[in-house]
Amino acid sequence: MPGTTDATVANPPAAGTGKSSSSSSSGGGNKAISKKTAEVVQEHSETVTVTTMKQPRPTARGSSFCRDLLKGLVALAAFLYATGTFASIAKWSNNRSWLHSHPAMSMCEWMNASAFEEAGVTSAVLKRMVFPRPVRGPKQLLVKVIKAAGNPVDYKMRRTPDLKKLPAITGYDFSGIVVDADKDSAYQPGDKVFGMLPTMSRVWGTFAEYVVNDEDFSAKIPDGVSFSEAAATPLAALTALQALVQLGPVVENQSVLIHAGSGGVGSFLIQIAKKIMKLKVYTTSSSVDLCKSLGADHVINYKVEDFASREYDYVIDAIGGEYLLRGVSKTRKHYVSILNNGWEDYANSLLGTSRDIPTANIIGEVLSNVIINLRHYVTFGRYPKYSLVAVVPHSESLEVLGRWIKEGTIKVLIDQEFSGLEVGPRQVHDRIESGRAKGKVTLAVAAV
Ligand SMILES: NC(=O)c1ccc[n+]([C@@H]2O[C@H](COP(=O)([O-])OP(=O)(O)OC[C@H]3O[C@@H](n4cnc5c(N)ncnc54)[C@H](OP(=O)(O)O)[C@@H]3O)[C@@H](O)[C@H]2O)c1
Repeated sequence: MPGTTDATVANPPAAGTGKSSSSSSSGGGNKAISKKTAEVVQEHSETVTVTTMKQPRPTARGSSFCRDLLKGLVALAAFLYATGTFASIAKWSNNRSWLHSHPAMSMCEWMNASAFEEAGVTSAVLKRMVFPRPVRGPKQLLVKVIKAAGNPVDYKMRRTPDLKKLPAITGYDFSGIVVDADKDSAYQPGDKVFGMLPTMSRVWGTFAEYVVNDEDFSAKIPDGVSFSEAAATPLAALTALQALVQLGPVVENQSVLIHAGSGGVGSFLIQIAKKIMKLKVYTTSSSVDLCKSLGADHVINYKVEDFASREYDYVIDAIGGEYLLRGVSKTRKHYVSILNNGWEDYANSLLGTSRDIPTANIIGEVLSNVIINLRHYVTFGRYPKYSLVAVVPHSESLEVLGRWIKEGTIKVLIDQEFSGLEVGPRQVHDRIESGRAKGKVTLAVAAV
């Protein structure tokens, strides 16, 4: 009977035993329950027991844990919001970066940097922004930046940036102090280092409180060399060295024409060509005395004298354009260009392509080599070599340059130093963009 059965189920069997408690109660002398009824009760009890054993307990517990966790997170977020924590962080960072509204921003370390969020023909797009401090990988150094230096590539990148990598921190050159390195590294926290970021695939710039750089692209600053001198050296001096290495073995007193001798690259070119390679140095510049003091044998004031009135064994060209078009025919052995303009512009105008498009640039570069070499083979019956230099960071070369500076073999010519990450970076860009800088323009980022 159902009523009897209900009474028995109200006193269910112990879970998991498969045994009915009604068996023990019948043992208590409840004679009103017939043997058949007892069987039914037994049957129902077993059914109930089996059903109880099939309950999906773990899942029920898991979902309740998730619910509790979610409630906890919502409560925490509400607390942070209510206490104004998010708003204070956003106000402190004082810029329009997408990171402001990112809830994870309170969970990592931050730094100030000078960056641009959009392309800009003027330096006005440079702003102080807050970025996550970069995280180093194996064989990389985390460096606290003391000084940085500017180069023309900084404003060129600002004008035509890789739009996928915005916002971008400006700057390639730095000097500073190692904060973190591999345990078995030759560099340890506290070491003074300098270096440059690779110009091709950069994400983090050097106009920032911290920078991560490969050990292979850095070197220790020798004693006696200042942070300003060290920061001003890498990109320009490596370009000079790598351009001169292109010449191959040279004979003492062979002539080299160096364009823009008073510029960042030119000031290193004159000194290395004269003092290390013992070449006879001609240079174009309106700063005659300055270039002579660096070691130039003959300074061609390009405002009153034409460099193309004589021939040279080698030419190293940091101007390009019309200088390249007229200069190659005055070169006996090797013309080294450090700019991809001139013939590239000519080739691109023939193709209807643009220098701002990388593929067109490469086509222009290849064509320029072919055109220059063919032109000279056909016109002059000789074959001056032509090469284009694209600077690459190199630790061992930086060590050599550091030693030459320490020994006084070469001097680092510094035009001006600006400071801070607010106005300073714009002043650095403006000075370089004027095209009149004498040597390098540096930026003081932090005190030692
Ligand atoms: N391919 C690479 O890897 C690479 C690497 C580094 C640099 N670069 C390029 O090389 C170029 C030079 O770089 P930089 O850092 O040396 O530039 P920079 O320091 O800005 O050059 C400024 C100097 O150029 C001189 N100058 C300007 N017009 C001149 C002219 N018509 N004739 C002779 N001198 C002239 C100026 O002297 P005055 O005041 O007397 O006119 C000034 O002292 C830039 O375009 C840069 O992007 C390429």
